[in-house]
Amino acid sequence: MCPQSVSGKGRSGLAAFRMARHWLVAALVGGALLVLIGAASLVVYGGIYNVAADIPHTQPVFWLMTTVRERSIAVHAAGVVVPPDLTDPKRLATGAGQYAEMCSGCHLAPGMKRTEISRGLYPRASELRRGSRLTPAEEFWVVKHGLKMSGMPAWGVSHDDELLWDLVAFLRKMPELTADQYQTLVRSAPKTHDEMMQEMEMGNDHGHGDQPHQ
Ligand code: HEC
Repeated sequence: MCPQSVSGKGRSGLAAFRMARHWLVAALVGGALLVLIGAASLVVYGGIYNVAADIPHTQPVFWLMTTVRERSIAVHAAGVVVPPDLTDPKRLATGAGQYAEMCSGCHLAPGMKRTEISRGLYPRASELRRGSRLTPAEEFWVVKHGLKMSGMPAWGVSHDDELLWDLVAFLRKMPELTADQYQTLVRSAPKTHDEMMQEMEMGNDHGHGDQPHQ
């Protein structure tokens, strides 16, 4: 037997085997992709995932949403510059008044019972009197921009940064307050929310330039 012809046959056999293996891998990957697309379509178009707010997320979806939210807040708040006077008593009093009017309905406050809205919200609005794991810069960013796919509004659309920093100053203080101290601080707020909004609008230049600055 001629050794050359044997090795020639061996080589072509090997090439055919490799080819077949490539096709097999391609078919497996393609099949797996089709199954994935099919399953995803079923979940999306089949209405399988329950979006009802009275049924908690499944564990994987909860993990995904929490991780996306935490990372997004951390990255976006990285450039926020925190003012040095967050413990200024005037900021705290102003912030307390704003908080009582704008936030306590969802986030509650010292001495406050759960409201109907706070019971029905999902994801839940955290009880901020218990403190939060966020830094002041992160709190500011969340309050200013709000959070998609939750009931947290973007307060920066209607409020200027100074008012939002007053709120953040108060958020840092709130965990130390008893119900009575909270009420006293709210009563000491220099202005009601409406007065504050009026002043803010007069202060910016959108057509109110002729009105006195206060
Ligand atoms: C309509 C209800 C609602 C109102 C009003 C509201 N929030 Fe929220 N807020 C939420 C919800 C819901 C979340 C949680 C979102 C999530 O977990 O994805 C949230 C999250 C937050 C967080 C992040 C908390 C954390 O630990 O992750 C802060 C800070 C916050 N809100 C501050 C405020 C402040 C300050 C105000 C008032 C100016 C306010 N919120 C008004 C519903 C509300």
